[in-house]
Amino acid sequence: ENVLDLNGQQPPIYAILTLSQSPIDFSAKETIQKMQLWQGRFSKAIDKKTNDFNSSISFDSRMFREDIEGSMAHADMLGTCGIIDRSEADKIIEGLKGILADIESGALAIDMEAEDIHTFVEGELTARLGSTGKRLHTSRSRNDQVALDIRLNLRKQADDILGDLRELVNVICSKAEENAETVMPGYTHLQRAQPITFGHHLLDYAAMLLRDIQRVEDAKRRMNVNPLGSCALAGTTYEIDRSLTTSALGMDDFSRNSLDGVSDRDFCLELASALSIIMVHLSRFAEEIILWCSWEFKFIELDDAFSTGSSIMPQKKNPDIAELVRGKSGRVFGDLMTLLTVMKGIPLAYNKDMQEDKEAIFDAFDTVRMCITTFIPMLNTMTVLKDNMRAAAAKGFINATDCADYLVKKGLPFRDAYKATGTLVAKCIEMGETLETLPLEEYRAICDTFDEGVYEAINLDICVSQRKSAGGPAKENTLANVARIRNLINNESDH
Ligand code: ARG
Repeated sequence: ENVLDLNGQQPPIYAILTLSQSPIDFSAKETIQKMQLWQGRFSKAIDKKTNDFNSSISFDSRMFREDIEGSMAHADMLGTCGIIDRSEADKIIEGLKGILADIESGALAIDMEAEDIHTFVEGELTARLGSTGKRLHTSRSRNDQVALDIRLNLRKQADDILGDLRELVNVICSKAEENAETVMPGYTHLQRAQPITFGHHLLDYAAMLLRDIQRVEDAKRRMNVNPLGSCALAGTTYEIDRSLTTSALGMDDFSRNSLDGVSDRDFCLELASALSIIMVHLSRFAEEIILWCSWEFKFIELDDAFSTGSSIMPQKKNPDIAELVRGKSGRVFGDLMTLLTVMKGIPLAYNKDMQEDKEAIFDAFDTVRMCITTFIPMLNTMTVLKDNMRAAAAKGFINATDCADYLVKKGLPFRDAYKATGTLVAKCIEMGETLETLPLEEYRAICDTFDEGVYEAINLDICVSQRKSAGGPAKENTLANVARIRNLINNESDH
C-alpha cells in the first residue's frame, strides 16, 4: 500500500521495515511507513503514539552539527584503523559533509518523523551512499554517540554563555568606572548603613559573574572528555583507536570506563548548577534594578526601549525585563531539579530516562542566554540619577560610623565612641537635624572630644574616599579593580 517511490534511490534506513522472512533481500525497496533502526528483530512498525512519545528529534535535531562532526571523526578512525576500507571511510566523510552543507543551506530538511537526529543522519547517509552508509555505525552505539553529541553541543553553548558573561562584565565595568565617585547609601537589612559608591556596588556583581565564568570553564574541562568507543556499554572487539577521535574532536581525553562513558551526565548537572547560580546573581541584580527604578528610590531610570507601560495606568513605566529575569530564575532551577531527579535512580549504564537530559539543559542554556543578552543593553542604557543617590546618602545617618571613628582616632575607645555617636543620632532625630547640620555645641554637650574637625570627618565624599582599605569603595580601589577585571576577562577569552 504505502510503498515508497524513491526513484531508484536507497530508502533511508529508518524507512525500511523488513517484513520478509529470510533470506533478506537487502537491495529491495521493501517497506511501509517510517521505521526504526532495530529492524530485523521486529515484525511490526512502532505504534504511532508510542513513536511520538519515544522520539527525541523535536529537541535533539539542534545537535545535527555535532552529530555529523562526531560521525566524521568516527568514520575517519574506522578507515585509519582498517576496520572499514579507507575509500569507504572517505566516501562516508564526503557524504556527511554534503548532508551538513545541505541542512545548513536549507536544501535538506530534517525529517521530524525520524526517531532522533542520529537515526536521521545515518538514514540520509545510507539513502545517498547505499551500503557504504550502512558501515558508519560499525563499533558504535547511539549510547556513546548521543553522549558525545551532547558534550560537543554543550561545549559550544558553554562558550556562547562565557562570551555573554564577559560582555555583561564589561558593561558593568564601564558603568562602575563612570560611577567611581557616585556616592550612594550602602545597605544592610535594606536599611541605609554606610556610604559607598554606585561603582563599588556594581562591581560586586562583576565579582559574582567572574566566579560564574570560572564555574562554567571548570565544568567545561570535565565535560571535554570523549565517550566514543564506549559503544553500547561494554566497549568493542574491533581494534579501534580512541585517541584519534579524541584529538579530531578537540577533546582533552577519552573516558576510561565504558559504562561511565555512556551513563555519565555529571556535566549536565554541573552546568545546570552553574547556570542556576548565574540566575541567582542576575535575579538579585534584577531585584535591585526594580527597587532603584521605583519612586521610593529613584536611583536610576531605565531607557524606554527596555521598559513597558501599563494598559490602564498612563503614568506607569515598568521594569518588566528585570522582573522577567528575576522570574525566569525559577525555570532554570526547575531544569536543574529535573536533571538531578532524572539521574538519581537509574542503574548503569544507559537508560532511556537519560533522553530527558536534553530538553532540560537546553532550556536552561536558552533561558540564561536570553536573560543575559537582554540584561546587557538594559544596563548599558540606564540613566544613573546621581543627585538622588547623593540625597538618599545624606539621610539615614550613614556617616555615624565615621563619626565614631573620628572619636577613636582622637583616642576614645571604640565602645565609648559608639555610645556617644548613638546619643548624637538620637539627639538629631529629636531635633530634626542630621549629623552635618547639628551645631558643634550639641556635639560638645555630649562629648567634649569633638571639635570643628568632625564636619570634615563626616563629609560623605571624604567618608567614601578615605575607605581605602583593600576591597573598599575608595575611587582608586574601584578604578584598579576595573582594570584588574578587564585584564582577567581579556586573558580568559584567549583560551
Ligand atoms: N535519543 C536517545 C537519547 O537521547 C539516543 C540514544 C538512544 N539509545 C538507546 N539505546 N535507545 O538518549
